[in-house]
Amino acid sequence: MTAARYRVEVMHGVNLDQLGRRDPLLYGTLTLGELERRIEEDARELGLTTRFFQSNYEGAFVEHLHALGGEADAILLNPGSWTHYAWAIRDALEIAALPALEIHLSDVEAREPWRRVSVIRDLCFETISGRGPDGYRDALARLREELQGGRS
Ligand code: DQA
Repeated sequence: MTAARYRVEVMHGVNLDQLGRRDPLLYGTLTLGELERRIEEDARELGLTTRFFQSNYEGAFVEHLHALGGEADAILLNPGSWTHYAWAIRDALEIAALPALEIHLSDVEAREPWRRVSVIRDLCFETISGRGPDGYRDALARLREELQGGRS
């Protein structure tokens, strides 16, 4: 059966444009462009379409969430350090009212205590962290399953 062309909005937050320069032990060696190409290929194999957004400006990230109505079927988001304290992003995600999956390259549970806090977690149907770029493939598969109503 061919999967529907669900539209997934992939949103990267603050400092994720610096992948490739950040600690490779935590974040791997891919640049953001390389990661996005990989996500796009994995999504295509799963029958999903992707659109990408990155910003280091919290207001721009919030406004992008505001404008998603009718543009996307689901959100895959890694807000970077905003995850841990940005209540405005939480509110905007709630306004977007789309199925959302929280993702982190590094294992945020195994790092500093402040990284264990996520202000978006309860708005997301799942959180994936610590699986590096492969986590994005797992996340896309989970999103598709969720959009298909739990069917794989
Ligand atoms: C991150 C984890 C955050 O704690 C950190 O601030 C980031 C990246 C990750 O993908 O592992 O910028 O979201």
